[in-house]
Amino acid sequence: MSVTGKAFTVCGGRPLVVVAVLLALFFTVGHGVVASEASDSNGYATSSVCKKCHIDIYNSWKKSLHSISYTNPIFKNAYSEAYLSSKGGAKYVCLKCHAPTSLATGDVDVEQAITAEGVTCDFCHTVEAVDLTNSESPFKLDVGGKKRASIKDAKSPVHAASYAKWFNTSEMCAGCHEVANMKGVKTGSTYTEWKQSEYARNGLQCQGCHMAQVKGKVVDPAVKETASDTFHDHSLSHNVAQMGDAVDVVILNAQRTESGRLVVEVAMTNAKAGHNVPTGMPSRSLVLEVRVKGTNFTEAIQRKAYGKKLVDENGKTLVRAVDVLTRGVKVLENTSLKPNEQRIARFMFSSAPKSGMVVTASAYLVYTNEVSTEEQTQILMGSATK
Ligand code: HEC
Ligand code: HEC
Ligand code: HEC
Ligand code: HEC
Ligand code: HEC
Repeated sequence: MSVTGKAFTVCGGRPLVVVAVLLALFFTVGHGVVASEASDSNGYATSSVCKKCHIDIYNSWKKSLHSISYTNPIFKNAYSEAYLSSKGGAKYVCLKCHAPTSLATGDVDVEQAITAEGVTCDFCHTVEAVDLTNSESPFKLDVGGKKRASIKDAKSPVHAASYAKWFNTSEMCAGCHEVANMKGVKTGSTYTEWKQSEYARNGLQCQGCHMAQVKGKVVDPAVKETASDTFHDHSLSHNVAQMGDAVDVVILNAQRTESGRLVVEVAMTNAKAGHNVPTGMPSRSLVLEVRVKGTNFTEAIQRKAYGKKLVDENGKTLVRAVDVLTRGVKVLENTSLKPNEQRIARFMFSSAPKSGMVVTASAYLVYTNEVSTEEQTQILMGSATK
């Protein structure tokens, strides 16, 4: 990491002497810490160095999947299986996104602590440029160089800082959120889905939805007083509340036919996501479920699933992430909902309650478990009752 003392003259409006002493103190402390921890890892500094001054951002990043992109057991299981079946080849594929500092350090055997930090502060903030035409290595890295982001005229006592336009654009995310598997087949296209949407045409980037401004401090005020009372949330806001209303569900019709059957028509709209639902890995699907209840009537349930279907060379559908990533040769179909797309689904039940009929329609995002395809996690995304 390059350490510069040039930024010294900045002061946040405090009496000059106090500020000078304070900054000098931090410079000494900061300098020692940054330089020594950075040197074991080919120039990258660990997130615990950044934490000393950017505590609010650190805490929000800690909650994100980026901070556990290498260590989480779901990845670890899939990675070890892919590693074995590819005789080690997977380390040149998976770590590019799940432990990206390895791109610069070459540490594909994860011997350095920084590698296991996954998508860490210093990886993103030393990206100098992104070139999506280079699919092998879309990031131009300036390890140990300036910390870049979207603050104009930022000045720090321990590192050079500079504005970089990438940080406000989806291209910053696209280097990893556009995934080809080990056979070169596109298994995740979140960026392309966004690029083709109205959100992209209106200039709403990934950060606009996933990195909102939240209350807190960019820098600990003891280090530097800055005017802003907000920082960009780094937790990715991937929470159930946000997902809870991503999909609008409306029951258009629930009608008995003359022959005593029941026809239910449901409209489902991708109202809030800037890309398809589901997006990313085909191990996720969107399930629309209709339940019919009534007096003296055994509850009837029907489901339809939407998503991407990948097959292996024998035409067998693959569900687990590891199979998709190592063996998928073709996307057979993709029925996921595009941004703002409405889909109307028709359900036919062989009988209907004579009285007290209640029809409920719910949309769930279903994650298939990595270890056993029998186990699934469901998140409710929208629902309606008639
Ligand atoms: C000793 C305190 C300190 C440490 C340690 C520190 N920073 Fe900073 N950083 C600052 C200050 C002060 C600013 C300036 C904020 C401003 O001017 O608004 C800043 C600004 C930034 C910016 C904004 C750049 C821009 O132009 O938009 C980024 C990005 C950044 N730091 C990343 C990091 C990363 C990554 C680490 C760990 C490798 C780190 N910082 C460690 C104090 C620190
Ligand atoms: C996935 C890449 C990524 C990672 C990992 C990451 N950041 Fe950021 N960071 C960004 C982006 C993008 C922005 C700008 C968001 C915007 O302007 O919309 C940003 C903004 C910032 C800023 C400028 C202030 C602000 O809130 O805009 C600082 C300082 C910063 N990050 C520090 C950190 C620290 C410290 C860590 C680790 C604890 C970290 N970042 C991890 C991408 C990342
Ligand atoms: C260096 C690669 C990299 C970059 C750059 C990156 N991501 Fe990620 N992101 C990942 C990986 C890998 C995961 C999955 C972590 C896991 O589940 O193990 C992830 C997960 C996520 C998730 C959570 C997905 C879920 O299933 O809950 C969101 C949301 C996300 N990223 C948004 C962003 C945004 C927005 C940006 C740009 C500011 C960005 N990412 C930049 C690699 C990256
Ligand atoms: C208009 C707002 C919006 C924009 C723009 C947006 N997203 Fe999302 N994103 C959402 C919502 C809402 C969800 C939750 C619903 C879902 O999972 O599809 C989500 C979910 C995700 C997930 C998790 C998917 C899962 O199934 O767990 C990832 C990864 C993601 N977004 C990445 C991105 C990236 C990368 C971009 C930019 C290319 C982006 N998003 C742009 C709103 C947005
Ligand atoms: C181009 C970047 C990239 C590469 C290469 C990559 N991944 Fe990922 N991976 C991601 C992102 C981004 C996510 C989270 C969002 C999504 O599904 O797109 C993810 C999610 C995952 C998940 C979670 C799936 C789930 O359903 O929640 C597993 C497991 C995984 N990756 C394993 C691997 C393995 C094993 C490899 C190597 C064979 C690999 N990945 C290669 C970017 C990548």
